[in-house]
Amino acid sequence: MPTPIIAIANQKGGVGKTTTESDLAACLAERRKKVLLIDLDPQANATSGLGLAKTEGASIYDILLSDKPIADIVQKTADARLDVVASEVDLAGAEIDVARAEHYLQRLTMALEPLAAQDRYDFILIDCPPSLGILTMNALCAADGLLIPMQCEYYALEGISTILNTVGKLHDSGAAPRLAVEGIVMTMFDMRTNLSQQVVGEIKSHFPDKIYESLIPRSVRLAEAPSHGLPIIAYDANCTGAAAYRQLAREFLKRRKGGEAPAEAALEAAEKDEAAPEGAPS
Ligand SMILES: Nc1ncnc2c1ncn2[C@@H]1O[C@H](COP(=O)(O)OP(=O)(O)O)[C@@H](O)[C@H]1O
Ligand SMILES: [Mg+2]
Repeated sequence: MPTPIIAIANQKGGVGKTTTESDLAACLAERRKKVLLIDLDPQANATSGLGLAKTEGASIYDILLSDKPIADIVQKTADARLDVVASEVDLAGAEIDVARAEHYLQRLTMALEPLAAQDRYDFILIDCPPSLGILTMNALCAADGLLIPMQCEYYALEGISTILNTVGKLHDSGAAPRLAVEGIVMTMFDMRTNLSQQVVGEIKSHFPDKIYESLIPRSVRLAEAPSHGLPIIAYDANCTGAAAYRQLAREFLKRRKGGEAPAEAALEAAEKDEAAPEGAPS
């Protein structure tokens, strides 16, 4: 089976896309999954947040416009199970250059195909820029799943409608044949405010099967971790933010495995196996 590709997208900036992508990737790696994180945002926050330099020429730009293999630009991180395709500011030019290229919506699909066909990774996660431009559309066309981080704020529902419209159009046009909504993750949840609770309630009532039970709290530690070049579980393994992203990773895997609600015992056994420490026999 080809490697599942998950795009993490929301046209709005500052909603927790990059935080969710980096921290979910690290938590999946902790659960013994091999993950490739692709930073498709010219701001390169995921790149620096995981301790990698923003190096000229290191982004996926060239790969999107040529037939060079993507494997050439995959970088290792401190975590042996987490690899990264970095970004840097040059990638901003790709919005224009890719738009002029042949098969402009499928450039990323084509770049990822050889890699997704191998067994090298369990998941490929793509961090999208805060727009529904050409780069994000390429991510949506390449993906099987769209994971939408949503800040717990008043306009959340409108924001989801906007992105779902784009997904619908790409789907109907045949450009994104495999794309389905993977899930909606509510970020910056503040237990003390009624607004957070109301927004979660509203999204839950509209998308009961899509919203994750795991809520990501508003947390200073989550905001600090990237400036140290670390995912939250490496920066402060015991904080509430780390617990929330660990829970999200568990729920993400459970849903992907599930569907037909496997026996609880079997699931628990599989979970224990996944959570086994480094070096344990698989
Ligand atoms: N749960 C959270 N609690 C507090 N700050 C957060 C949280 N998630 C993200 N942030 C911070 O908010 C800002 C925007 O988050 P980011 O993940 O970069 O969003 P996006 O990728 O959608 O623009 C960053 O400074 C980040 O550190
Ligand atoms: Mg971002």
